[in-house]
Amino acid sequence: MPAIQTAVDLTPFNTLGLPACASHFVRLQSASELVALRADPALAALPWRVLGGGSNLWLQDDLDALVLKVEIPGRTLLREDADAVYVAAGGGENWHDFVLWTLAQGWGGLENLVLIPGTVGAAPVQNIGAYGVEVMDRLCELTAIHLQTGEHRVFRNADCRFAYRDSIFKHEEAGRWLIAQVVFRLPKAHQPSTAYGEINKELAALGLPATPQAVAQAVINVRNRKLPDPAVLGNAGSFFHNPLVDAATRERLLAEYPALVSYPQADGRYKLAAGWLVEQAGWKGRNLGPVGMYEKQALVLVNHGGASGQDVARLAAAVQADVQARFGVQLITEPVRW
Ligand code: EPU
Repeated sequence: MPAIQTAVDLTPFNTLGLPACASHFVRLQSASELVALRADPALAALPWRVLGGGSNLWLQDDLDALVLKVEIPGRTLLREDADAVYVAAGGGENWHDFVLWTLAQGWGGLENLVLIPGTVGAAPVQNIGAYGVEVMDRLCELTAIHLQTGEHRVFRNADCRFAYRDSIFKHEEAGRWLIAQVVFRLPKAHQPSTAYGEINKELAALGLPATPQAVAQAVINVRNRKLPDPAVLGNAGSFFHNPLVDAATRERLLAEYPALVSYPQADGRYKLAAGWLVEQAGWKGRNLGPVGMYEKQALVLVNHGGASGQDVARLAAAVQADVQARFGVQLITEPVRW
């Protein structure tokens, strides 16, 4: 049975750096360790919470729960066919290190997703994405363990019901599964996606052709310029979703704000740049208590030190109210709340 710690401060386990005490905490090296935990009646009686890198987490309160910190390792080439390699990674692998490893093996496909904080097992939950690629574009299947029954289930890509920053693990199946392993399909005839203007510009500045390694370098440079390093300034990446609106709403906004930033979607709707809305509402670089909206990217909520979950809630509500009042658009918060 893995060692159970009690009364653990979660501040170091969430990149926003918010304090909250977990009544019970355990580090898992293998999915099989769940069996012994479930056999312990005191532990089985607690709610269980699955923790990855804590990079998309908004802690609001102390937790009377067993926090399972997933540290399941593993990086393996499972098989290959004429078209692709199939690579498995343990749920506890650091996402960025895993991406760099695939690139070092000569397998492209994940380069646009380099430097995203967090773990492999957490990546499918919110369908992480950046610079025109989402994890759903490369995920073949995953194996998850049901927290209560111990059932091992394979979720194929379609079973995960992926959408923009969304999956079945945020809805019907929320809180039920621990993602132990993810299998990626990385195509052999891979053309890196450089549709995103900033990446193209950075490649040109670097004077490099669009190889997977060069795209990774371009993404790293762009991210480092705009996004705060959580080790230096607490944050959980984008704090709000980019809102999806219908064409009529976009027309109405464009008439009043010709500079509105929006992107057409396949379904006829438009995605608005929430960072633009937040900046226009006057929140870029502005603080409320110990938290603020980042000066270089208004969509990123930052903890300047000593903030609580309540400080975050106050700022989030103030930003949402101002964006609603000005644009009539509701911003939805992105991080998972505990
Ligand atoms: N913008 C502003 N002011 C700002 C920030 C953005 O006007 O302060 C406008 C600009 O016009 C900019 C546009 O918004 O061109 C888009 O900004 P950016 O390229 O920085 O991307 P984003 O839409 O703010 C999304 C993801 C990021 C991802 C980037 C790149 C969401 C919620 N966020 O941000 O993901 O890295 O695109 O693909 O979809 C995350 O989810 O945590 C995250 C960082």
